[in-house]
Amino acid sequence: MSQARVLSGMRPTGKLHFGHYHGVLANWLKLQEEYECFFFVADWHALTTDYANPSGIKENVRQMVLDWLAVGIDPAKSTIFRQSAIKEHAELNVLLSMITPLPWLERNPTYKEQIQEIKDKDLHTYGFLGYPVLQTADIIIYKANKVPVGIDQAPHLELSREITRRFNYFYGEVFPEPQTLLTSIPKVLGTDGRKMSKSYNNAIFLSDTPEEIEKKILYMMTDTARKRRTDAGSPDVCPFFLTFHNLYSDEKTIEWVREGCTKALIGCTECKKSVIPKVLANIEPIQKRRKELEKDPELVWSILKQGAVKASEVANQTMKQVRAAMGLE
Ligand code: TRP
Ligand code: SF4
Repeated sequence: MSQARVLSGMRPTGKLHFGHYHGVLANWLKLQEEYECFFFVADWHALTTDYANPSGIKENVRQMVLDWLAVGIDPAKSTIFRQSAIKEHAELNVLLSMITPLPWLERNPTYKEQIQEIKDKDLHTYGFLGYPVLQTADIIIYKANKVPVGIDQAPHLELSREITRRFNYFYGEVFPEPQTLLTSIPKVLGTDGRKMSKSYNNAIFLSDTPEEIEKKILYMMTDTARKRRTDAGSPDVCPFFLTFHNLYSDEKTIEWVREGCTKALIGCTECKKSVIPKVLANIEPIQKRRKELEKDPELVWSILKQGAVKASEVANQTMKQVRAAMGLE
């Protein structure tokens, strides 16, 4: 077990899909064996975009944490908690906001992109602009050394490092600079061939029934140029192949597909049916565990509460140092 501390968070979006599983959770599972890990539900961050409609958040927290637990995120190994339970994140957020230059936030590429792209919500708010400041507080309040994130979050982490350096420069070396643990996220495409995402309505959820999973896989997009069974296809442009064969098939099967597809020896349904049993076998124990966990409606809340005890010990400790460093105590 390494001494380094890992921290990561996820906004509560409800039930998780295969993209979250292979992209993020598989990595968390590995990290949990190697490091002291803090995994938290970023429910305040959810409000930066969903402030007008917060009624679903509580249920989304529960569903998401059930999926974490079902795949094997283990409260006996990792500290699992909810951001809003630890008010010190907000205190540190205020203090960091004093030293964060506005232009740093305004030139954040994720911010500019989302302001451009998301048109159904008014994101011209103080909270949304300050998203990376709160995220920095989340990280450094635990003095986390490593933050596993996908490439899309890398600019946020860079900002966190800059804010941390600025804090240390003004008030002394209170915080270690958090390192980005860049996760190479495998391509997980949805049924329509775009990136798998709940908002695209193309997701296969971990809690979909085996029948639903099979059905979704069977209608998932393939090489669109392959219109007839007798047409040769190309696995390299086939969303189904790129996602499912890549994730679940051994080399022999992949060879069989490459040969069969490019020479029109196999049909797409046959190709898909060669993977479905492996997908279902992998998901079966996860679903079984989820069903068990669901039986106790209080379980998620009690696990989050226990995690918060541990998290708040660390956060309190850090805030004492911060207040002292800033002349507040
Ligand atoms: N921004 C992250 C996401 O959308 C969630 C998050 C909030 C986070 N605070 C964090 C991730 C701190 C890592 C560390 O996925
Ligand atoms: Fe994709 Fe398989 Fe069909 Fe080829 S045979 S296009 S790899 S689903």
